[in-house]
Amino acid sequence: MKKLYPCIIGLGYVGLPLFVSLKKKFKLIGYDTDKKRVNQLKKYIDKNREFKRKDLKLNKGTIVTGNHKDIKKSNFYIVTVPTPIKKNKLPDLDYIKSAFTTIAKYIKDKDIVILESTVYPGTTLDICKKIIRKKNKKINFFIGYSSERINPGDKVNNIKNICKVVSIDANNEIISLVKKVYKSVSKKIVFTKKINEAELSKLIENTQRDLNIGLMNEIMILCEKANLDFNEVLRLAKTKWNFLNFKPGLVGGHCLPVDPYYLSHYAKKLKFDTKITLAARKTNNFMEQFILKKIILKLKKINNFQTRKIIVMGLSYKPNVPDSRNSLAMI
Ligand SMILES: NC(=O)c1ccc[n+]([C@@H]2O[C@H](COP(=O)([O-])OP(=O)(O)OC[C@H]3O[C@@H](n4cnc5c(N)ncnc54)[C@H](O)[C@@H]3O)[C@@H](O)[C@H]2O)c1
Repeated sequence: MKKLYPCIIGLGYVGLPLFVSLKKKFKLIGYDTDKKRVNQLKKYIDKNREFKRKDLKLNKGTIVTGNHKDIKKSNFYIVTVPTPIKKNKLPDLDYIKSAFTTIAKYIKDKDIVILESTVYPGTTLDICKKIIRKKNKKINFFIGYSSERINPGDKVNNIKNICKVVSIDANNEIISLVKKVYKSVSKKIVFTKKINEAELSKLIENTQRDLNIGLMNEIMILCEKANLDFNEVLRLAKTKWNFLNFKPGLVGGHCLPVDPYYLSHYAKKLKFDTKITLAARKTNNFMEQFILKKIILKLKKINNFQTRKIIVMGLSYKPNVPDSRNSLAMI
């Protein structure tokens, strides 16, 4: 079995925990295009506050770099770059395309590449693989997908104890190498050779959550209109054995407000007009206005409220993370 020298491309909320886990078992390369992030990590500072200085210390042979040339020593690339949506709500794959263009410059025969960013089915094989192949007509490389379930700020469901979906369609030797890497990160590997199915499984995890929270938001608004106590309605409903315990809330962050659009884009490509996939998006985004209206109504009951100072506690999209992407608290 060949000696693996993995490289993480993109050291953000997903890439850095992976880097910290893997550096316990492998000599490793961490590469990011954000020079500020790289310089901070070299000084053992994680602006995302997931890791302490001691977690970020580097063993001999492990590096953090902003220089793409350094990745050429690697033979196992893991890509964890952002996958946002554009203003028109269509998937923005520019970061992915750029990361694979960089890998294409340095990839060698028998190297392995795993995409971890959340994407719609076909991205790994029809876009990423083709970018590498275009520049490397003759080499024999392997490409797979592994969805990331990491939950920043969550100390219970962390990278070590969640199970991980890993997919690659390759020979047994390559599958063993891929499993070896991921077994050193996660408690349990759920393996499939079907990359498109693995990509889709990630999208439905987040879309399902968005829809369930959306339903609770809608019922909460309905209770308000009907002058019914929503919490009491929920308390009663929860006594049924198969009632799903979702709560209303402000849906933000890099995943839930984005991934349903990736799923609906995929369906549209297949000329399938989904009716449910995006159903929660409007309601969940409306919650910011709903809460603002409630605050203003309450304030109006206070004398001279214009001169009062208001503290908004909790600006990020969920507790204990500094991630303010798509946060609905930032009106
Ligand atoms: N944040 C989460 O909780 C979470 C959970 C599961 C899955 N995901 C998915 O994981 C992916 C990454 O999300 P994230 O939250 O870690 O993003 P992030 O913005 O925190 O980190 C991405 C990093 O990639 C770097 N980068 C961008 N382009 C690059 C390139 N071409 N080469 C090298 N580095 C590059 C950025 O500078 C950044 O540091 C997304 O697809 C996201 O949907 C995120």
